[in-house]
Amino acid sequence: MHEQLQPMTTTPARALRGALSVPGDKSISHRSIMLGSLANGTTRITNFLRGDDNYATMAAFRAMGVAIDDDGQAVTVHGVGLHGLHEPDNVLDCGNSGTTIRLMTGLLAGQHFFSVLTGDQYLRKRPMKRVTEPLAHMGARIAGRGNGTLAPLAISGSLLAGIPYLSPIASAQVKSALMLAGLYAEGVTSITEPTLSRDHSERMFRYFGANLETSGTTVTVRGGQELQGGDICVPGDISSAAFLLVAALTVPGSELLIRNVGVNPTRTGVIDILQAMGGDILLQDQREVSGEPVADLLVRSSRLKGIEIGGDVVPRAIDEFPAICVAAALAEGTTILRDARELRVKETDRIAAMAANLRMIGAGLIEETEDGMILQGVESLSGGTVTSFGDHRIAMALSVAALAGRAPVVVDDVSCVATSFPGFFELLAQVAVR
Ligand code: S3P
Repeated sequence: MHEQLQPMTTTPARALRGALSVPGDKSISHRSIMLGSLANGTTRITNFLRGDDNYATMAAFRAMGVAIDDDGQAVTVHGVGLHGLHEPDNVLDCGNSGTTIRLMTGLLAGQHFFSVLTGDQYLRKRPMKRVTEPLAHMGARIAGRGNGTLAPLAISGSLLAGIPYLSPIASAQVKSALMLAGLYAEGVTSITEPTLSRDHSERMFRYFGANLETSGTTVTVRGGQELQGGDICVPGDISSAAFLLVAALTVPGSELLIRNVGVNPTRTGVIDILQAMGGDILLQDQREVSGEPVADLLVRSSRLKGIEIGGDVVPRAIDEFPAICVAAALAEGTTILRDARELRVKETDRIAAMAANLRMIGAGLIEETEDGMILQGVESLSGGTVTSFGDHRIAMALSVAALAGRAPVVVDDVSCVATSFPGFFELLAQVAVR
């Protein structure tokens, strides 16, 4: 999708000031297309994230016969019902999107047709066994490279039977893949995870009228349930807001109001971590929109201190560690991150990528560990040239690191930013005082 390298230079800022909003939540946008397509009736989605990952999901459902209109204001999905998808006449390309490929593997396993899912060079390296293995226990027939563990995945739809599944990892993609397969399975499917991952699927299943049982970290779905479409207003993505939070906290004299941010408790680990580091972040006007908690975030620059991060907060902040690493690199003292092995199998190995890149721009001592890292904070960063590794969040985190630095940071390729945060650099320019 992004063939030409697109380098970007970000210069230090004197402060960040103003009020702004961030684009819609990526996870919720994916689910609104998927569940909207499987529902009866129409689903009208506002503040849909028009990013490459979500376009990949949209294209896949269009290829299976779902009419999806976008008038620039709202995306309207004309649901075809649980059994209304058609066999696609070509391979479905999930691009860079792990959520698209893993959730769709579950959804396609129980269809009455054949389909093939693939993705870009990064996605084709990411582990798929975490979904193909439990799905096989439900009766799914999925073939793929590496003995069914890597994309492309070829799915011969089959009859599924519900299972109880004890997941070894806290993963919303695994949970959601099995919940979608569970809709097509005989009997009940229950998924138990070690700690609770984001629960957007559970909320949207219920919002669309499905009956779910949740207890602790277990969710149970009964097969054959019809969904009813509805209107969804997607909250701003807290994972995108995280870059602005870290930017405002680390550049002295900053104050930003970030409006309309999703503050689902399974996603707010980043706020808890930054507050524990001494960050001044206030949640204002908390409300609920389309079944999801939303608030405005007021953030002011703060003197941050290093802390220990591990345990249950990690899955609640899993996509925000590139940004959190930048905060830690500029905090007083040592930050120890553990229990974050999952970072090694994201769009890139985010532990290795952040450690290498932060060293390139003058960070203090960084020790990589198997499941995290140990960082010594420094007063300010020196700038330099870094590599995004084709990972949107690495590109944005390092650009934010430039704002509080002494010299510009050049990121070698930022085309990947369009994956989740179109308009990121324009927004930064809008609020940066230089
Ligand atoms: C997501 C779940 C998380 C997250 C990803 C989006 C989702 O992945 O990192 O960006 O929408 O379900 P895992 O399920 O692999 O933790």
